[in-house]
Parts: sequence; C-alpha cells; structure tokens
Amino acid sequence: MKTNENMSIEQAAELLKEGYPIAFVTETVYGLGADATNEQAVAKIFEAKGRPSDNPLIVHIASVDQVDALVKEIPVKAKSLMDVFWPGPLTIIFPKSDLVASNVTAGLDSVGIRMPSHPIAKALLEKVNLPIAAPSANTSGKPSPTTAYHVYDDLNGKILGIVDGGPVDKGIESTVIDCTLEPPVILRPGSITKEMIEEVIGPVLVSSTLEDNTPKAPGMKYRHYAPKANLILIDGDESKFIEVVSKDLEDNKKVGILVPTTYHQVQASVKLAYREDVEFFARNLYLFLREFDRYDLDVIYVKYINGDGLAKSIMNRLLKASNDQVIK
Ligand code: TXA
Ligand code: MG
Repeated sequence: MKTNENMSIEQAAELLKEGYPIAFVTETVYGLGADATNEQAVAKIFEAKGRPSDNPLIVHIASVDQVDALVKEIPVKAKSLMDVFWPGPLTIIFPKSDLVASNVTAGLDSVGIRMPSHPIAKALLEKVNLPIAAPSANTSGKPSPTTAYHVYDDLNGKILGIVDGGPVDKGIESTVIDCTLEPPVILRPGSITKEMIEEVIGPVLVSSTLEDNTPKAPGMKYRHYAPKANLILIDGDESKFIEVVSKDLEDNKKVGILVPTTYHQVQASVKLAYREDVEFFARNLYLFLREFDRYDLDVIYVKYINGDGLAKSIMNRLLKASNDQVIK
C-alpha cells in the first residue's frame, strides 16, 4: 500500500465512505479516521495502529445534529458543555446507541464524541457526512502525531492517505469527560481545563482522584506517549540537572534533556529547550519527544513543571511517558 502524504479532502471523503481508514489533521493531534458505523472499517484502525482492542475510540462529528443518532440520551450537563466548548478539544462520553459499531467502543455501552474545530477536519467531516471514529494517528504507545510527517513516519504503507493541515494548534489530545456519571468525571485532562468546565457545570471529579482507582478511560492504563529511551522527570532547578546529567555523562551514557531556554549552564548529548509558556510547551511536547528518537540515547531528563490547568494536562502525559519516574 502506498501512502499519499497530501490527500485532498474530496479523495479522503470518498475513501472513508468506501471503508478505508484515512489520517487527518485536527486542532489537537492528527487522527486516524474510519466510518464509525462500519465495523470492518473500524477494525482496520486497530490493525494499522497495533492498538489493543479493549481501548475505545472517539467519534468525530461535524454538526450537533449528528449526536441524537449516536446516543441514547443527552444529559443536561453534557448539553451545556456542547453549547460552550463545541467545536473544540472536548470529548464527551454519552450512553451509546446501536448505530455505533461495537468495536468503536470496545464493547462498552458508552461512546465518546467530539466536534473538532480545525477547519480542515470540519470540512472533511462535512464532506463525508458520517460519524468518524478516530484515535490519534500514531503507532500505539508512541507519542501522538502533531505533524503529517509524524503520521507518515509511523503509518507509511499501512494506510492510503493523510490529509495534511500543517502542525497542529493544541498539541495534546482532547479533554475527555464522562457525563454518564453524576457528578461528571474528567477521564483525561487536556486544554479544556477542569476550571473551565466547572465554570459551566459546577463541580466535577478527576479520574486520578477516584477512590476505587480503576482506569475509567481504558486507554489510560497503557504506557503511552513514550520516546525510545528511558524518560525520567526532574522536579528541581538547573543545579539538580547539572548534578544528575554530569554523572551520567561520566558513565559514558548518551543523555537527552528538555529544559527551559533559561538553563544556560547544563550540557548534555542532546539538549532541547523551550520558552516557559505552557501553550507553546503543549504544542511542541510530542515533537520534542519524537526528536529524541533520532538519537541513540540511553536516558532523557525532562523538567517537571508545576502548576494548574494546562500544566497539569502536560504533566499527565509526561508522567505516563516516564512511568512515574520522578527525581526530586
Ligand atoms: O484529541 C483527541 O481526542 C484525538 C483526536 C484525533 O481527536 N483523539 C484521541 O484518541 O486522542 P485516542 O484514541 O488516542 O484516545 C481516546 C481516549 C482513550 O483514553 C480512551 O480510552 C478514551 O478516550 N475513551 C474513548 N471512548 C471512551 C468511552 N466510551 N469510555 C471511556 N473512555 C473512552
Ligand atoms: Mg492516542
């Protein structure tokens, strides 16, 4: 199979209707889409990504009119969230109807739905006029793709095409909130923060603080977002970096670091630096992680960032990528 790296919206819509998975840009990360009502088409997504079949997919729509057919009911709080945050990076979990293919939801009786705001994603979804199931368009376990090139790198030869829209705007996946529960529960933090949601519907829970501690978004239990080398977070200042990194360099290890641009002193085999601006950091996080994969590194140290809102969403991804390894 030859992968067309720059497929037109028209051609992508045709192929989606015929049951082929196609990758496309959204404002969060690139998605790998297929007709959510066609079980065989959806099965091809799991195959191309090497995704565990117990991890459900998000259904993407172009218009709120599409929701009714996909769900059993629209809870009142879900309706308020749709009014305020759609189109945009918020996935809402509803009780599911029978129209959604059962492998989309991995057998669950709920379905996650979102309406992307990216103009190219919107145009494609309008053109195809079907609900499109789409996980992030990466090989399972790798960092999510934030450029068409990342998708190509992972899925070349496994899919027919990519609708390229350049680098994404947000850079981390949508916030996922379960509105079948009362109070609703944030299953995955994203750029729509808990604070923003609570302004609209009042108090919500966050899944990591639930007492029974079982993963409610099945996908969150897998190792994720990980570069090839072991990734460790450092919750400390530049002097802590210098101490840890110089010891590894003495031991002849190849070390990558991801630090603020203000860290002038610390040296490493590969040094990536970012402006201290959380939106910039989120937009480029997966690009940084993939960049490290170009070098044969033994270990990667990333600065732990403290703070609420988007900083918490970023740390959710980095803690997963590091398997919770933090040096204080
Ligand atoms: O920003 C995004 O959400 C991107 C773009 C392409 O839209 N998509 C994305 O999909 O990140 P994916 O498959 O990589 O992540 C979907 C997450 C997983 O953690 C999955 O377990 C959870 O959403 N999820 C989906 N449906 C669910 C359901 N019915 N109940 C609980 N969790 C669900
Ligand atoms: Mg993913």
